[in-house]
Amino acid sequence: MSVPVLTVDGPSGSGKGTLSRILAHHAGWHLLDSGALYRLVALAGRKRGLDQDDIQGHAKLAAAMDVSFGLEAEHVSLEGQDVTDAIRTEEAGQDASRVAAWPPVREALLGRQRAFAEPPGLVADGRDMGTVVFPVAALKIFLTASAEERALRRYNQLKEKGSSASLSALSREITERDARDSSRAVAPLVPARDAEVIDSTGLSIGEVAARVIELGRRRALWR
Ligand code: DC
Repeated sequence: MSVPVLTVDGPSGSGKGTLSRILAHHAGWHLLDSGALYRLVALAGRKRGLDQDDIQGHAKLAAAMDVSFGLEAEHVSLEGQDVTDAIRTEEAGQDASRVAAWPPVREALLGRQRAFAEPPGLVADGRDMGTVVFPVAALKIFLTASAEERALRRYNQLKEKGSSASLSALSREITERDARDSSRAVAPLVPARDAEVIDSTGLSIGEVAARVIELGRRRALWR
């Protein structure tokens, strides 16, 4: 009955998305990109022309929106429309962080997130995966990195995708988003008490993944 869950939480740009993908691939497990759900709620709100302060309206959308994720959460669609690129902009991230501070929206997404826990297992990527959504996860990782390094990673990511970005603006936005995500009253960004905290500053993603794969092996999550 119980499906093994590995949670990967951490601030924006810590590398949790890439790490989660590698781990899901390694284990052959499903992947939940919970940040994408918050991004989708904000985007759905914009598409519907909802007032930016309409908490209940956004919560209703969170419960009712029709979303689907492609293999390894690479492609995302909303009401049948491909929104993979639209939800990945910095603006979409800021929008997501704003709606994510509203308890009714978080509540509305709980069941959706938990439904991803299907055999043979789930890697769940987010901010509150280990603290709120999957409190009894088999392994909880909290991934951090210095704010400078995270801004630089985001900058390189955006550049790779062909978007232009300014490093100083990104740095400012990351600090702002960290502050909002960490200080909100409900499900703030904090490591679960039983999380393994990994600081990835100066480590390659391969080194981080190797460390987590070893932790999973020790807990008999895989061989
Ligand atoms: O991981 P991300 O950058 O795609 O997340 C976008 C925003 O969504 C993030 O700034 C805060 C919010 N979020 C959240 O509150 N809880 C989660 N589990 C995941 C994301």
